[in-house]
Amino acid sequence: MATEVVQLTRRGFGQTMRRDAWWVQPLVVFVVLTAFLIYATWAAFQNKYFAFGNYLSPFYSPLLFSDSPHAWIHGGRPSWIPGFLPFSPALLILPFPAGFRLTCYYYRGAYYKSFWADPPSCTVGEPRKSYRGERYLPLVLQNVHRYFLYVALIFLIILASDAYRAMWFVDPATGRESFGIGLGTIVLILNVVLLGGYTLGCHSLRHLVGGYIDQLSRAPVRKKSYDCVSCLNRGHMRWAWLSLVWVAFSDLFIRLCAMGIWHDVRLF
Ligand code: FES
Repeated sequence: MATEVVQLTRRGFGQTMRRDAWWVQPLVVFVVLTAFLIYATWAAFQNKYFAFGNYLSPFYSPLLFSDSPHAWIHGGRPSWIPGFLPFSPALLILPFPAGFRLTCYYYRGAYYKSFWADPPSCTVGEPRKSYRGERYLPLVLQNVHRYFLYVALIFLIILASDAYRAMWFVDPATGRESFGIGLGTIVLILNVVLLGGYTLGCHSLRHLVGGYIDQLSRAPVRKKSYDCVSCLNRGHMRWAWLSLVWVAFSDLFIRLCAMGIWHDVRLF
């Protein structure tokens, strides 16, 4: 049989035979992620306007140390934090959800393309000649994702309890709590739903609930869990973006209400 030797040539940076607008997606990812990082960092350093009545911003939850009634430990800045360091309760907790997103399998693919063009998109030439994968430092550290998942699941429970608390309004005249739904309640419930869709569709969770079992059909509970996680996992990219945008909007909504710029509407 005749054999033909095909010479493969490496494409130069940005070279491609694609005719579609392949650069749009990485550009949008770059813009949205950068905007989110700037806003979240700014909001975390503010250390004010993070609560409005029974609403607490998800950027500050769990609120470990603060004078706010939402705080787990009252009294503001703890004495063990050196005085030269800036303090905000958000700075103590945000590294966990940030680490969860940063090491997420989907986001990795997205920001590798848009932030360091590795490659800029499928079948588009990249700026470097070697491929080291994620087997060496620092990218091998991405493997900690499964541990961030455990913390993210705890955060999800805490945020769900915040959404429940957002249904109980204190009457300023009597000091009594009564059940109600405000716009902020809906914002916080939706935040938990979207974060739940994102977290519970995690690839690591999928492996955890059934990915390593040889005969999944023999473990019906695991099989059902695996199917549910797989179902969410199919839309993981959508959940990732919707939950990212909504968590920032939830903070913005509560912040602007606390500043008196927006007004919460009590629906009943
Ligand atoms: S893979 Fe995206 S959250 Fe785990």
